[in-house]
Amino acid sequence: MKTDHTTRKEILRTREAAELLKVTTQTIKNYIYSGKLNALKTPGGHHRIRRSDLKEIGFIEDLPGEEGTLNREEMYQLYKDLLNSYVDTIKALLKALDARDAITSGHSLRVAEYCNAVGQRLGFSTIERRNLELAALLHDVGKIGISEYILGKPGKLTEQELFMVQKHPEIGEGIIDEVEFLKPIIAAIRHHHERFDGRGYPDGLAGYDIPLASRIISAAETYDVLTAGIPYKDVLSKEQAFDELRRSSGNQLDPEIVSTFVATIH
Ligand SMILES: [Fe+2]
Repeated sequence: MKTDHTTRKEILRTREAAELLKVTTQTIKNYIYSGKLNALKTPGGHHRIRRSDLKEIGFIEDLPGEEGTLNREEMYQLYKDLLNSYVDTIKALLKALDARDAITSGHSLRVAEYCNAVGQRLGFSTIERRNLELAALLHDVGKIGISEYILGKPGKLTEQELFMVQKHPEIGEGIIDEVEFLKPIIAAIRHHHERFDGRGYPDGLAGYDIPLASRIISAAETYDVLTAGIPYKDVLSKEQAFDELRRSSGNQLDPEIVSTFVATIH
């Protein structure tokens, strides 16, 4: 491990970042231009890179400088491939889950796409975006514990059935809890049916006590249900759905997230 000042500096020059990653400065620039790496700009137009951003693309401080093994770029590529294969596996399993629900299939995939776009607009880091996408994909995974009869029932649910349906965030939390790499998204799953006014479930959290990821998923999910349609209900146009979201601002949904959502998906 390097011990000179570069290893401890928080803001790095392009050259220093390249040295730490053992790549060329051009590679660092390519990361910046392709959006893989966040960079600041000095008034003189030079890039400055935060150490924390560099970590996200594969710089691991304690990694020994092994010769003849994978270089950092190859390791970053492997790491990305591995994550993508996790996400692909989850997407495949979700197709089966979505098919059980009254909400049209593809719901979770579309919610994940909307969330991704909103996360990008909010300036989320790569890791934050990935966690938001995973949480959006898996937000309703707990429905696996609820009978298809209840999920597909067209009319009003009985009190007992409603109780069962409202258990799905906690059932989901219990499933996710078993998987190490999904631990960061537990709270987002548990709280995706909280309401901004505190009248949601399971904990009645209100306002900013609700995790940001849950507030984004909630808006995206509401929009998708309105526009993709569920059996026995009308499908709304984009504009009608936006109006509906605005009406839910401050009661069901976070007003700021609603405006960001509308501005992003427009
Ligand atoms: Fe849900």
